[in-house]
Amino acid sequence: MKIRRMELKDLYDVLRICNQSFLEMARWTSRIAPMIIESIRKYPELQLVAEEDGKIIGFLRGGYIENGLKVLHIAVHPSYQRRGIGSALISKFEEIAQEKNLKRIALDTPFAKGFYEKIGYKCISIEYALIYEVLGKEIDDVENVEEFKLEHIPYIIKDLGKYSFDFLMHFFKVYESDPDKSFIYIKNSKVVGGTVSGTNTWNSDLVEIKYLIAKDNHSKERLLKKVAYRASLQGSRWIGYKTRSREEYMNLIRKGWKEAQLPYWWTRYEMEKMLS
Ligand SMILES: CC(C)(COP(=O)(O)OP(=O)(O)OC[C@H]1O[C@@H](n2cnc3c(N)ncnc32)[C@H](O)[C@@H]1OP(=O)(O)O)[C@@H](O)C(=O)NCCC(=O)NCCS
Repeated sequence: MKIRRMELKDLYDVLRICNQSFLEMARWTSRIAPMIIESIRKYPELQLVAEEDGKIIGFLRGGYIENGLKVLHIAVHPSYQRRGIGSALISKFEEIAQEKNLKRIALDTPFAKGFYEKIGYKCISIEYALIYEVLGKEIDDVENVEEFKLEHIPYIIKDLGKYSFDFLMHFFKVYESDPDKSFIYIKNSKVVGGTVSGTNTWNSDLVEIKYLIAKDNHSKERLLKKVAYRASLQGSRWIGYKTRSREEYMNLIRKGWKEAQLPYWWTRYEMEKMLS
């Protein structure tokens, strides 16, 4: 087995490996193929394949980050996994970093945390993906949480201050597709929180919370409940929320949320290794 640079002529084999090894996102050929082509064109020195008897059996797509390199994709053909090929691709990538005097390798992974830990990587942050199933539950409407409308713009700018930028940006991104899934919580004539949600690209049964801002936990819960209520009225199965806070994750788990394993809606582990 040898590791060499990936070339454009390897594209077909690399795409076959993606389709056989990856879940979801990376099996979406129209999305992954342009990424691979662009990487070969821009940073050919960071794109690798593993080859055995003239056959491509694994690949790694890499990129640059500040002070280091990032593993963007790695996969080994299912028939060749657990034979040290993934580790060999990573070792070669680390060698390239060292030759360039770069000391840090970073990546994020939903499923291969154990693999990276075995080869010396540490988890530095987790983005939890959670879902709450609305199907089969009785969910009541929430008072004082209203659907966000254009005429509310002056009020949220006044009451949410600097947070209104993000709220509005997220709202207008879903304005055409999901104009009816954004809400504000009004307490004593003031806006104390807001949320924007929209249908997940991969799964029309999942309403994804794209932005949530609230003055306190109680307001946050009310907003989430309203999203769940609207989702249940509209016949969606789940609402989904992502957080980096372990405390928020635990709170939601206690309230009946579950960690998700849905297409492209999964917990991601951010990992890194400092090279000596
Ligand atoms: C993850 C992947 C690249 C690893 O490649 P590989 O060639 O199978 O890995 P190696 O044989 O070098 O494994 C090195 C060690 O990690 C372990 N390991 C491999 N994959 C693992 C996984 N998914 N979870 C936990 N441990 C894993 C191996 O058992 C081995 O341990 P050992 O030395 O004690 O036997 C490969 O399994 C793969 O392509 N998986 C599907 C695609 C994928 O998940 N890619 C990562 C994207 S996030």
